[in-house]
Amino acid sequence: MSFSPFELLNQSKPVLIFGRDGQVGKALQVCFKDLQVPVVFLGRSDCDLTSEVSITRVLNQYQPQVIINAAAYTAVDKAESEFELAFAVNAKAPQIMANYIANLSNGIFVQYSTDYVFADTKQTPYLETDIAGPVDQLSVYGKSKLAGEEAIKNVFHLSKNVGCENHEYQFSRYFILRASWVYGDGSNFIRAMLRLAKECDELKVVADQIGVPTSAQWLAEVTIQMVTSRLESGIYHVVSDGETSWHGLAVFAIEAAASLDEGIKMKLENVRPISAIDYQMPARRPYNSRMNNQKLKMSFPQMSFSGQYPHWQEQVETYVKKYISSFLKS
Ligand SMILES: NC(=O)c1ccc[n+]([C@@H]2O[C@H](COP(=O)([O-])OP(=O)(O)OC[C@H]3O[C@@H](n4cnc5c(N)ncnc54)[C@H](OP(=O)(O)O)[C@@H]3O)[C@@H](O)[C@H]2O)c1
Repeated sequence: MSFSPFELLNQSKPVLIFGRDGQVGKALQVCFKDLQVPVVFLGRSDCDLTSEVSITRVLNQYQPQVIINAAAYTAVDKAESEFELAFAVNAKAPQIMANYIANLSNGIFVQYSTDYVFADTKQTPYLETDIAGPVDQLSVYGKSKLAGEEAIKNVFHLSKNVGCENHEYQFSRYFILRASWVYGDGSNFIRAMLRLAKECDELKVVADQIGVPTSAQWLAEVTIQMVTSRLESGIYHVVSDGETSWHGLAVFAIEAAASLDEGIKMKLENVRPISAIDYQMPARRPYNSRMNNQKLKMSFPQMSFSGQYPHWQEQVETYVKKYISSFLKS
């Protein structure tokens, strides 16, 4: 008989996953394929997250025990002029989902959040205990994601339904997983750089914003570990080891791809470092996007999801190889 890591949960109620067609949603589909657990993936056409009626309808229809919300308004620059839409999807919708789970016994709600909730108040990697903001210095996207975090925490604390580690759960729990610079099956920075490396002779890339690229596939694997753990509710920084700049990431990805794809002719010295000041964008982005991953490491000392804690370089290399080989075949 095969083992389901979900055996701790009520098997008669499904895991409901929003954001089916996003990078993390697609990675979750890969992870859930081999798990013996009822799961329902919803895309935009199944449920519009700007509509409370639509969300309530699917919650009542599926009556999930676990909700993983991988949907979000992620158009960082567009959000500057779509404040209400960004807040509806990133703050109000997760609040409704959290409220549903908080009123169950033994339920779990997972929400993804971002380094954009921090606005350069530190020179070192942020801890989960660091205060986010200040709000007036965040982008609209950052504000909306932070509002989502706050709404979830309030819902669970008001319902006094915050499960703690090692309890026999009668309480529900929430996990807010903060990631940064996510890449997976979808539009992302790495794919953009590889495309430009084919089309252009020279690239200018920001070199003074520092962060950690996060593999959507790894984030999905960690999510399964969280959901099947006995960890307590809270915020967790889910980032790999190491750090780099956007320029460092572009050079690394192009170098990895060039050895596999003859179409990439760009010389690495032609990937020019520039300052963020010289590449103005509508939304403000943090210079320091680094998040400390000690809490996650302490939570999973056995690191069973990968054997060893991953460095961003090995994950990007694996991603580029896989992406290039599928790209060359098509
Ligand atoms: N991407 C990053 O660099 C990054 C970094 C840090 C944290 N995160 C967080 O990680 C999570 C997953 O990100 P991702 O990269 O997988 O995002 P993504 O690829 O942009 O996917 C987001 C999904 O949300 C769906 N969505 C947006 N508005 C919706 C609405 N009104 N109703 C229903 N669905 C809606 C989109 O649907 P359509 O496919 O129909 O458009 C899309 O499938 C998000 O919470 C994000 O904030 C991302």
